[in-house]
Amino acid sequence: MKDGKVQAAILGCGNIGNLHAQAILANADVMDLYAVCDVIPEKADAYAEKYHSETVYYRMEDLLADPAVDMVSICTPSGAHADHVCACAAGKKAVLCEKPLDIRPEKIDRMIAAYEGTGIPAAAVFQYRTYPGIRQAKAMLEAGELGRILVANARYQQYRSPAYYASAGWRGTWQWDGGGSTMNQGIHILDILCYLAGGAESVQAQCRTQARAIEVEDVANALLTFGSGAVGTYQSTTLANPPVQILAEILCEKGRIAFDGEKTMLYTEEEPEGRELGAGQTASAGDGKDPLSVGIAGHVFLLRNLAAALRGEEDVFIPFTEGKRTVEVICGMYESSKNDGRRITFADGR
Ligand SMILES: NC(=O)c1ccc[n+]([C@@H]2O[C@H](COP(=O)([O-])OP(=O)(O)OC[C@H]3O[C@@H](n4cnc5c(N)ncnc54)[C@H](O)[C@@H]3O)[C@@H](O)[C@H]2O)c1
Repeated sequence: MKDGKVQAAILGCGNIGNLHAQAILANADVMDLYAVCDVIPEKADAYAEKYHSETVYYRMEDLLADPAVDMVSICTPSGAHADHVCACAAGKKAVLCEKPLDIRPEKIDRMIAAYEGTGIPAAAVFQYRTYPGIRQAKAMLEAGELGRILVANARYQQYRSPAYYASAGWRGTWQWDGGGSTMNQGIHILDILCYLAGGAESVQAQCRTQARAIEVEDVANALLTFGSGAVGTYQSTTLANPPVQILAEILCEKGRIAFDGEKTMLYTEEEPEGRELGAGQTASAGDGKDPLSVGIAGHVFLLRNLAAALRGEEDVFIPFTEGKRTVEVICGMYESSKNDGRRITFADGR
């Protein structure tokens, strides 16, 4: 820390790194953007200039050898996260790691083990979980205010052009993206679905590549059962042009919760027209076509929480164990799809 402020660094100066840089700057009272690092020097240099970071590195090893760095935002391709996070743990740096934590549960186990017992904070990004409406919905569901959860459905029907997949070599590959419309994009709403419905207990899925020249799926359909006893459906696709509103719906005995990627609404018999949960504090989820059009508020929240965790004042909001659950469900979907829709079960609910 310098003058009581966390010295933050960004590893991976691509699309989402921009949001981390902006969110670090938005938390200027508790953190500084001290360093940026990318293996492509021009990208690192451009970030340093744009976001006024003090230091630039072109090798992760050099960044991690710098004792001034307190925390690192991991913004590299998904399949590289485990190696990068474990290197950060060895360098005694706190991390905020982008979704998915990595693309296989076994790799995430390595990440969890690397931080276990160190006392150094390590957190995952699932920005929707930070939205005030989602936090209020989770508290209401857990307190049983809406009775039993009966049905839980989600859909992610957005658009990614061929140019998007061509924009970086790792996109749409099993090795580095780890999957398609679900592992990269739909993961956000699937996470909220499982989070609110009490964890997935089983999944049966059909995943296909309908239109894009990619290895991974551009559409996924699934049937799910949840720890709460609810049953439900999920669909993701990156082929919807124009995009359709993202949606997760939780149908309970005494009401229905609907989250559209921005607002969380509660509909009941008394208020059939609906009431917004966490009203006035929601964050924007973007326009559905631009992968960069993600609201900043969630990242501001998560970085601020990590700074507080570094000072020993808060627990991390989304620990790695939580980030792993949704990746397990997604890998279960892919396994089910490869086996003609066989039902895959999760021991203690995901
Ligand atoms: N939370 C969200 O809403 C959200 C949105 C977009 C992307 N993401 C996630 O962020 C991650 C990155 O996605 P992106 O779209 O920004 O990718 P990107 O390709 O635009 O950026 C990745 C950057 O990492 C750099 N890089 C690769 N290996 C490196 C290394 N060893 N050291 C330093 N730099 C390295 C690349 O050169 C590139 O600049 C992915 O895991 C993705 O799923 C999250």
